[in-house]
Amino acid sequence: MKKYYLTTPIYYVNASPHIGHSYTTIAADCLTRYMRRALGEENVWFLTGTDEHGQKIQRAAEAEKLSPQEFTDKVVFIFKDLWKKLNISYSDFIRTTEARHVGFVEKVLESLHKKGDIYEAKYEGWYCTPCETFWTETQLVDQKCPDCGRAVEKISETNYFFKLSKYHDWLVDYINKHPDFIRPQTRREEVLRFLELNRLADLCISRPKERLSWGIPLPFSPSHVTYVWFDALINYISAVGEFDAGGKYHSKWWPADLHLIGKDILRQHAVYWPIILHALEIEEPKTIFAHGWWMIGESKMSKSKGNVVSPLEMVDKYGIDVYRYFLLRDVPFGQDGNFSEDAIIKRFNSDLANDLGNLVFRTLTMVEKYFSGQVPEFDPAIVTAQEKMIRENIGRLNKAVADGLVVLDFGKSLDAIWELINLANKYVEETKPWNLSKENKTAELRGFIRLLVDVIRAVSKELYPFMPLTADSIQEQVGKDAVQKGNPLFPRIDLKAKQ
Ligand code: MSP
Repeated sequence: MKKYYLTTPIYYVNASPHIGHSYTTIAADCLTRYMRRALGEENVWFLTGTDEHGQKIQRAAEAEKLSPQEFTDKVVFIFKDLWKKLNISYSDFIRTTEARHVGFVEKVLESLHKKGDIYEAKYEGWYCTPCETFWTETQLVDQKCPDCGRAVEKISETNYFFKLSKYHDWLVDYINKHPDFIRPQTRREEVLRFLELNRLADLCISRPKERLSWGIPLPFSPSHVTYVWFDALINYISAVGEFDAGGKYHSKWWPADLHLIGKDILRQHAVYWPIILHALEIEEPKTIFAHGWWMIGESKMSKSKGNVVSPLEMVDKYGIDVYRYFLLRDVPFGQDGNFSEDAIIKRFNSDLANDLGNLVFRTLTMVEKYFSGQVPEFDPAIVTAQEKMIRENIGRLNKAVADGLVVLDFGKSLDAIWELINLANKYVEETKPWNLSKENKTAELRGFIRLLVDVIRAVSKELYPFMPLTADSIQEQVGKDAVQKGNPLFPRIDLKAKQ
């Protein structure tokens, strides 16, 4: 039986989640819902969680005068509550402070240390505290951190290093032999170019306790804690499997079919992670897909830029499904996109109010008016060419939506759904049902209404992974022999009245 295991990044809990975080999680939820239907509920596993160690968290806890554990125990609920609100159907939520994870990371460290892939050495160089990253003199830009532009500190200390360098050639070869390992293609090329221009240096995977205490202590050196990224990546395997007594990893779900991430954390996922796994003799994930960024003007939406928009605020204003739809529809998955409320309202009024909402409402109104709320049967003998064409389109919809989703092209799937909605709306306008009624063409009228109901049923089924609540509501209205008309699904937002 085919299985599907997908993950989101585990988010840092030092700040509340913003639209960017919700984007990855919503995309993963959409795929999960689709896959559960395609492969069976029990064959899909969706993991998300929180990254709770490291400097950022320690500082955020200090600012609130809490211990890091108290702080993370408190703020993890902000994430869990948001995912509930956004209708995220994860299978498991891992926190890196949980015993199941900590114990697993210790085993990984011990095993790599024993093997000689982790070694001790003196380190002298520059360190960016907010980024928790070491830099060499030549990497600095104007003596500042090349990533965030902030001041760096000179440090000299004993640390533990993981032998990335030993696996450089293996990794290049692996990426070359596995065209779907890093996607989209531009990101794959970016990683290959990086590996071509830079020989990998070994990765410092420890921090001395006196500088940072909030982390997993190294089992072979209690005066050091584990570097947060080394700890974090391991969540993908610690959550779904175990090492046996002989050190072999067993899991029902691994290898992951998809790690969904933003392009900001591509290096860690496409370089460090496969090497860690290879050193542990564990299989690689099938695909790492890095999507683009939500931007506000020219800048990435991020806490450090102070330009974040709260998902809760958007959901309260526009509704959960509208928000989900907007994120997956407005920007091709993989590319950057500009966030604005005007763009949400535009999508709302055109795609949702005018196209989908209108089709459902006018169809149900006609079922009530002409057939007292009973969905009519149709006579296949009197099908017009246009009706035949629309029925063929219904027949193709499931495959068309699947074709988009399997390549993570959410827009393509939604385009297919909207093509059918638009065909149906055009059909209403061209058929003029009131004339059929006046002329007593009852068989034609039946065929006409039944086709619209069939379109709506197919649309709601395919829309489900994207807009689960809307799909359920439409099913309630038209799923049975007698319709149950509700209020319009998406009453138009009057832009002028808003201003
Ligand atoms: N804790 C690490 C990840 C460890 S995974 C083993 C981390 N956390 S984070 O809280 O900073 O989340 C980063 C992720 O949030 C991005 O990779 C992306 O999935 C999402 N996004 C954060 N800002 C974003 C945008 N502005 N736009 C789109 N997605 C963004 O990094």
